[in-house]
Amino acid sequence: MKEIKKITCIGAGYVGGPTMSVIAQKNPDVEVTVVDLNHARIAAWNDEDLDNLPVYEPGLDAVVGEARGRNLFFSTDVDKAISEADMIFISVNTPTKTYGKGKGQAADLKFIELCARQIAAVAKNDKIVVEKSTLPVRTAEALKNILENTGNGVNFHILSNPEFLAEGTAVTDLHNPDRVLIGGEDAEAIEALVNVYAAWVPRERILTTNLWSSELSKLVANAFLAQRVSSINAISELCEVTGANVDEVARAIGQDSRIGGKFLKASVGFGGSCFQKDILNLVYIARTYNLHEVADYWEQVIIMNDHQKTRFAEKIIQTMYNTVNGKHIAFLGWAFKKDTNDTRESAAIYVADHLLDEEAQVVVYDPKVSAEQIYKDLDYLGTRSPEDNRRLVKVVDNAYEALDGAHAAAILTEWDEFKGYDWAKVKEGMKKPSFVFDGRKLLDRNELNRLGFAYYAIGE
Ligand code: NAD
Ligand code: UDX
Repeated sequence: MKEIKKITCIGAGYVGGPTMSVIAQKNPDVEVTVVDLNHARIAAWNDEDLDNLPVYEPGLDAVVGEARGRNLFFSTDVDKAISEADMIFISVNTPTKTYGKGKGQAADLKFIELCARQIAAVAKNDKIVVEKSTLPVRTAEALKNILENTGNGVNFHILSNPEFLAEGTAVTDLHNPDRVLIGGEDAEAIEALVNVYAAWVPRERILTTNLWSSELSKLVANAFLAQRVSSINAISELCEVTGANVDEVARAIGQDSRIGGKFLKASVGFGGSCFQKDILNLVYIARTYNLHEVADYWEQVIIMNDHQKTRFAEKIIQTMYNTVNGKHIAFLGWAFKKDTNDTRESAAIYVADHLLDEEAQVVVYDPKVSAEQIYKDLDYLGTRSPEDNRRLVKVVDNAYEALDGAHAAAILTEWDEFKGYDWAKVKEGMKKPSFVFDGRKLLDRNELNRLGFAYYAIGE
């Protein structure tokens, strides 16, 4: 079996960067090069100051610090890295299509295809090509077609190796995965990739399947996880009208070992770059095969999630006497979950957009997200002019400043630091009545009520 000496990964994003850093850390004898077209991103991965890495993940600085320059390299020379590699991971983005057939649902595979064509053009010796990106089932077939028609005698083996890390816990997830999934047809190629992971993952946790099961399992895993969040969020609305408490219901059902306690935290709605995109993709695939009931079933997970975001914004407006015009609403958190600087599909964006339609004055504080990113997220929606977004939204780098003089505080991300604030002091600086809308059920209701806040939390 071929020994893997050089690995290249195309795409230095939230998946490519951390995944390859850990592979390099655990395989000091393998040279790992991560390449990207984005020069600024590569420069940030190469920054001497590990605080400036382009992806914020707890523990990532130590991993990069250990391997970078030893056997881990970040570069923009894609051709060179392809030509030298024995194994090439493709970890580029696969966003939802914004044009043409499948617009708003199907995965946009243009970046994947560009990679395949570049590999086909550059490769002079045999390569194992690994799909790390999340892809529609049967994408490997298209890759194979592109790669096998170069006519230059080079052999390619295609493997599917979807990534299950969650942001904010990427390093622990990578160090200690529940499972690693490898789909493929060629036993030697599969074994070569198994060996890379076996450097630190127990063999019994490395699952091998056929290509199509592996590709589909990734979409299904995300759909099941998102479904749990939408299920508990649906129940949160019922709790609010019946006097039940959603956390108590979650605990009561989660104790049943058949149900399990994880992913039952009611929230303002799931965000992130994966859940919505991957379910839409699943829905699209089902419709392509005329499986309309299957498609409708999964689409409901997204519909419920959109409803939860709208409902939270509406609750704020309704509670504040049906108008938020000119009112100062402090947003605590903008990232789609804690411990990440990623804002893709974050519920905060949509809740803000709803309130801005009503001419609220939103002041945002997030410990890891920049003002530039927040304005970019709002401008991207195209709901109002960039000038209006800047007129209505202010971004500050201190939570007390965001809360000073506010009519209401809205908690959008479950950052731990929000729990430790001096809420008595916050109350003094806020307008009266002082509203808190807790979209993460993060704060202590009894304490907030004692301090005199008008406190609303999802699912209570
Ligand atoms: P990302 O946008 O952070 O990174 C992708 C990178 O690929 C970008 O830096 C982009 O410049 C680069 N790129 C695109 N085309 C290129 C090309 N032709 N040559 C060189 N570089 C190119 O995306 P991500 O979050 O890392 O996600 C990558 C894939 O992994 C997606 O398919 C996603 O669904 C999947 N995934 C993501 C997560 C997550 O938590 N973010 C988890 C599991 C799986
Ligand atoms: C997800 C999958 O968990 C991961 O396996 C996959 O590789 C990529 O997609 P990620 O999106 O990074 O990971 O984070 P995750 O922890 O799954 O959270 C997704 C969203 O659901 C967040 O907005 C989070 O706040 C929300 N969520 C999660 C809840 O609202 N309640 C929960 O109980 C769990």
